[in-house]
Parts: sequence; C-alpha cells; structure tokens
Amino acid sequence: MALITWTAGQFGTNVGFADDEHKILFDKLNNLYDLATGGADRSAVGNQLDDLISYVVGHFAHEEREMLAKDFNGYTAHKAEHEALIGICAGLQTKFHAGEAEVTEEVGQMVKGWLDHHIPTFDMAYADALNS
Ligand SMILES: [Fe+2]
Ligand SMILES: [Fe+2]
Repeated sequence: MALITWTAGQFGTNVGFADDEHKILFDKLNNLYDLATGGADRSAVGNQLDDLISYVVGHFAHEEREMLAKDFNGYTAHKAEHEALIGICAGLQTKFHAGEAEVTEEVGQMVKGWLDHHIPTFDMAYADALNS
C-alpha cells in the first residue's frame, strides 16, 4: 500500500506547478518506501533515495523562487522549514551511502509526517500570493 496518497482535499494548494510537483514527489517517495520496505537491493534503494532528494531540493528551490518573485512575506519561515528537512535528508543520504544507516519504515513515516504538516500549513499559505 502506498505510504502517502495525493488528494485535492488534503494536499491541493490551488497552485498548478506546486500540485504537479507534489504528485511527482509523492510518487518518488512511495517508490522509495516500497523498495526499502520490500527488501530491494541496497543499490536500488540508494538510487531512488538520491533521485527523491534531488527532486525535493529542486521543488523547494522552485517554490522559493516563486515566493521571492511575489515578495511573499512568509518566505523566510517557509525557506527555514525547507532547509530543516534538507538537512535531515542530506544527513541520511550521507550515512546511507557510508553504510551507516538504512531507509526504514520510520524514515518513511517521518517524511510523510513532514509533508502532512508542511503542505497544508506552509504551501497552502502561499496560494493567494502566487496566484495574484
Ligand atoms: Fe511543496
Ligand atoms: Fe514548501
């Protein structure tokens, strides 16, 4: 079963690029979760982990560019949230490739929990500014 499912009711931001990228991000996270919890080769897990993290970094940068372009006053707090998650992900990525950590059920739940909070709280808050 998928770790996380995109629905407009729970995750729709009313910003086209954000919804499109969130759906792709969820697919990549679900793929990683399935590989990691399904006993896939470590190299396959690592490749998917790298792909997910680079997509997340690009998505965050895209949101930040759009917020800056509209001079959105929530930019600083929003960017800080992004940087906190990137820091956690980069730490896991480094440890994974050093053989010191694995992608576990708990890792999947942590990222899911972050998205469950971040998208409704932070991403939905930029809709009016970005659509203005
Ligand atoms: Fe987002
Ligand atoms: Fe965001």
